[in-house]
Amino acid sequence: TKFWAVVPAAGVGKRMNADRPKQYLLLAGKTVLEQTLLRLLQADVFSAISVAISVEDPYWPEMGISSHDKIITAAGGKERADSVLSGLKSIRAMALDEDWVLVHDAARPCLTTADIYHLIDSLCDDDVGGILALSSHDTLKNVQGKNILGTLDRSHIWRALTPQMFRYGMLKNALEAAEGNFAITDEASALEMLGLRPKIVEGRPDNIKITRPEDLALAQFYLEQQQ
Ligand code: CTP
Ligand code: MG
Repeated sequence: TKFWAVVPAAGVGKRMNADRPKQYLLLAGKTVLEQTLLRLLQADVFSAISVAISVEDPYWPEMGISSHDKIITAAGGKERADSVLSGLKSIRAMALDEDWVLVHDAARPCLTTADIYHLIDSLCDDDVGGILALSSHDTLKNVQGKNILGTLDRSHIWRALTPQMFRYGMLKNALEAAEGNFAITDEASALEMLGLRPKIVEGRPDNIKITRPEDLALAQFYLEQQQ
């Protein structure tokens, strides 16, 4: 079985509030998207990496890495799940149903190769697959309006990160079945909707998603610390 990567990179980065989508902001001398792709290339396990890019994106063609021989471009969609599905379709002539696909956010540039190998080693004998996740340090409350209804049992609550690793055929079916459903904010949730039970694999806390302006400085700190 082969390994493929799909990188959704077609968001506008509204919460970042910058002059361009956050994946094109500079981080340690390169764009966030380049940093992310370099980590995936460095792992040296993927037959190809499909990057979903918005059709109105003027930045991607200018980036040297867009012509790398392991990198394929797919057209981004309206929601993240649409972009991921488009990425999957872009490799359909090459990928087999039983091949593994790792879906990884463009906005997570601090992913380590160690985490990629940890995910693959933990799940490659699994039937369904799973995701990197982190437990929560904070106590979590169930709230309605401004009223606390209860406290969640933290031992059962994990925060979903990426990469998320699933079989090509199963993931494509799940995302197609979930099309138009806004509750699908990650790949695992599409499989959960079909009654499947993806696994969690404990990830690293430095694998942050750049979401708000202060996250860029934090990502820079983590990249330096990882050297
Ligand atoms: N993404 C995508 N296609 C979309 C929406 C999001 O490929 N239609 C990608 C983003 O580029 C990002 C990842 O999905 O790499 C995670 O999404 P998020 O952090 O929400 O990024 P944005 O949607 O760009 O940010 P915001 O929600 O603040 O607008
Ligand atoms: Mg978003």
